[in-house]
Amino acid sequence: MEISPFVLGLPKVELHVHIEGTLEPELKFELAQRNGIKLPFDTPEQVRASYKFDDLTSFLDAYYDGMSVLQTAEDFYALAMAYFRKVAPQNLRYAEIFFDPQAHTSRGVPFNTVITGLRRAQIEAEQQLGITSALIMCFLRDFQPEYAMATLLESLPYRRWILGVGLDSDENGNPPSKFASVFARAKAEGYLLTMHCDVDIPGSIEHIATVIKEIGVARIDHGTNIVEDPELVRLIAERGIGLTSCPISNTWVSDGSKVALIKQLAGEGVKVTVNSDDPAYFGGYIAENYQRVADEGDVSNEFLTQLARNAVDISWAPAVLKAQLR
Ligand code: HPA
Ligand code: ZN
Repeated sequence: MEISPFVLGLPKVELHVHIEGTLEPELKFELAQRNGIKLPFDTPEQVRASYKFDDLTSFLDAYYDGMSVLQTAEDFYALAMAYFRKVAPQNLRYAEIFFDPQAHTSRGVPFNTVITGLRRAQIEAEQQLGITSALIMCFLRDFQPEYAMATLLESLPYRRWILGVGLDSDENGNPPSKFASVFARAKAEGYLLTMHCDVDIPGSIEHIATVIKEIGVARIDHGTNIVEDPELVRLIAERGIGLTSCPISNTWVSDGSKVALIKQLAGEGVKVTVNSDDPAYFGGYIAENYQRVADEGDVSNEFLTQLARNAVDISWAPAVLKAQLR
């Protein structure tokens, strides 16, 4: 995909990227070799060719499989540094980055290993690349809420390194209400709240209503099919609850990019934003996702600037930083 000079130069904020979803096949091989792990592929090209997702489940299988190479704090540092180096030339200025601690603790990698590796990369990226970032800890919704609660408690010693909590993984059969008490406790501990409401899944609109009215999230990840309920659209526009949409990801795991819905929602006053989700798996970082909106939506540069501004507005950056990002 060709990125226009305007899109490339636009100062960007990323609010929906899973750090584990930035693991490129080349780094996967490097880490596998370092850790003495045999991958079921011979080359990075073979890994890439195996990425043929037609729904969330087929993506999640590859996503969790790929994580086996992440073992040490050094590995998590390498993962995050590779991401920062990739997006620095795309003029990414600030990122709120999801991480999935349970995807690691469930296979015996300690929480401390994960977060210290990521944290070291964040500090270095700020110093060397000028990218400021923050972490959002996601709970895996296909595990039990008791495990999420235990993870929340385990995170408390690292409270100052984590801005908020989210909810990801397979939404089918795992509604937000399952995690209501975990999110209530997270809020009481001072964490900000967001949750994935994937598009095109059964019950999605009910899930969206729950996260707004009962859980009390500040943002919704994906969630563009809120258009099915104009009353909810009015409510989030009024409250400034933003959506973090991921156009290229949506082409893989739902029935299209949702660019038309991004345009519609922006027109209705919703703070909708453009993000990358799992760029190493879906083949597009932040700039490619803006370019996708530009190409498919036939929108003006002013519109793209407005999307970037929305991301600053709904970010959880401190006021001083927000002023700089604007
Ligand atoms: N959807 C749900 N869970 C996820 C995703 C996603 O796109 N990426 C990583 N975890
Ligand atoms: Zn996501």
